[in-house]
Amino acid sequence: MPNTEMPHDNTDASFAAFTAGVLSSIGPDTPPRAREILTSLIRHLHAVCLETRLTHSEWMMACDFVNRTGQMSDEKRNEAILVCDVLGVESLVDALADEAPPSHSSSSTNGEKKSTLSAILGPFYRENSPKYKNGASIILPDWLQSLDPQTISSLETARISGRVLDTSNNPICNTTLEVWLTAPNGLYENQDPTQPDMNLRGTFTTGQDGTYSFIALKPTSYPIPYDGPAGDLLQLMGRSPWRPAHVHLKVEAPGFKGLITQIFDRGDKYVETDSVFAVKSDLIVDFLPARGETDAKEGVKWELEYDIVLEKEGEQSGNGTSEATEM
Ligand code: BEZ
Ligand code: FE
Repeated sequence: MPNTEMPHDNTDASFAAFTAGVLSSIGPDTPPRAREILTSLIRHLHAVCLETRLTHSEWMMACDFVNRTGQMSDEKRNEAILVCDVLGVESLVDALADEAPPSHSSSSTNGEKKSTLSAILGPFYRENSPKYKNGASIILPDWLQSLDPQTISSLETARISGRVLDTSNNPICNTTLEVWLTAPNGLYENQDPTQPDMNLRGTFTTGQDGTYSFIALKPTSYPIPYDGPAGDLLQLMGRSPWRPAHVHLKVEAPGFKGLITQIFDRGDKYVETDSVFAVKSDLIVDFLPARGETDAKEGVKWELEYDIVLEKEGEQSGNGTSEATEM
């Protein structure tokens, strides 16, 4: 009898033997990491079927769900990422990439800065956003021209600025900072035919003093696309698709660990119920009414000062500030 033949007695021991047989069918040339992941996947899939006594029609529904996820995806929409996001998988993978998350914090304890926490990239990042000089606006004039004067005057313009620092509080020059956010309608430009290409996206470089500065909008909360399988899942679980208002940042500096993160507006009503589980309290920020004279002249309504701290390549998270535990 082949070692993968399903015994007819449906005992726990027979099911365990069947799973073991399927696992032992993995060939000797399978790369070790693939073997490790596939072994775990098969074990867990079998456990779900057994634990829930999955029926044939439920299994077919699951296959249909996976098929629809693929069919819904194209170069502008990645439904598989959305499905992972609403199940917390992207946030979990992001946390695992961070070697010692409990020792991170935006505040300093003993003069050493702790590195800025990461948050998920999400599916709407685009490479090669326009390069701007510090202080420039990422609100494209072509987009403004397409809006009526009332809408323009209601835009919540914001200057976002700060320094990029190392964990010893030294400025990091030559840091590349990519930023992106939605328009007030809650759509990124690549989801929205009414916005020009690359609206509300930009790439900045810090100067000698490590500073960066740009004009954008105070971000808006928005629902993730929920007209496909990810939305069906949310509905099934009685959950909302809304994400709290946030700005995405991708920061890279030679010799430092790259950072992908998001900053969240404290005043947003969804800050505690993010549909994709990306909020961390250290990443919640306060937009204040703009005080600068230049901003007043330029009609900028809000300001946010936000310093970003990067870890040196190879530096341990926590930067030597060991929180020793007695053994
Ligand atoms: C985003 O923040 O752009 C995003 C993240 C996860 C799912 C959908 C959108
Ligand atoms: Fe986003």
